[in-house]
Amino acid sequence: KRIAVLASGRGSNFEAIARAVKSGKIPANLPVLITDNRNAKAIERAEKLGINWIFVDPTSFPDRETYDAKIVAILKHLNVDLVCLAGYRKIVTSVFIKAFPMKILNIHPALLPSFPGLKAQEKAIRYGVKVSGATVHFVDEGVDTGPIVIQAVVPVSPEDTPETLSEKILSFEHRIYPQAIKWFVEGRIKVNGRNVIVENA
Ligand code: GRF
Repeated sequence: KRIAVLASGRGSNFEAIARAVKSGKIPANLPVLITDNRNAKAIERAEKLGINWIFVDPTSFPDRETYDAKIVAILKHLNVDLVCLAGYRKIVTSVFIKAFPMKILNIHPALLPSFPGLKAQEKAIRYGVKVSGATVHFVDEGVDTGPIVIQAVVPVSPEDTPETLSEKILSFEHRIYPQAIKWFVEGRIKVNGRNVIVENA
C-alpha cells in the first residue's frame, strides 16, 4: 500500500508516521508529503528523512475545489491508497472526499465529538473537562465528524494550560496515528456506517 501525508505546519505527526514507515512498523510506502505552506517545518523534516515533498500553492488556484482537484491528480498519479491529514489546515472539499472515499484519515487533539475544529485543547480546558485526548477518524464532508478509528484518553490536571495539554496529547497522537495507519494498510479496518471495526485489534 502507498500512503501520502498532507501537513501545513510543524509536522511532528508526519515525522512519527514517516519513522513508523521507515522502521517497517507500518508496512507501506510513503512516496510524498504534500503541503499548502512553503514555510511548513514539515518540509525540513521530510528533507532530513529523505522523503519527497511537494508544495502546492493555494494562491495559484481560483477556489478550494480546483486546489483539491490538483492534489487529487498528484495523489492518483502516485497511486496513493491512503491519505493522512496531519495538521493540514485546509478543510477538504467534496472533490477530494469523493476521490478517496473512506481513504482519508485525520487526527484531532480532543475526544470527538467533543471540541471539533480549531483550538480543541484550549476549548477543553475552558470547558473544565477532566479528561481529553486524541482521535483518529475518517474524513467525511463535515469538520471532524467522520467515523472514529481509535482514541486515546489524556487526563487534564488543574495546572494544565493549552500548551501543556497540547504537549501531553501530542505524545499520544504520535502513537495512535501510526497504529491506525498500520491497521488500514494491513486491511484490518471495516467501516459500517459510523461503526469502525478493527479485526484482531
Ligand atoms: C496536532 O495537534 C493535530 O492533532 C492537529 O494539528 C496538530 C498538528 O501537529 N490536527 P503536527 O504538525 O503534526 O506537529
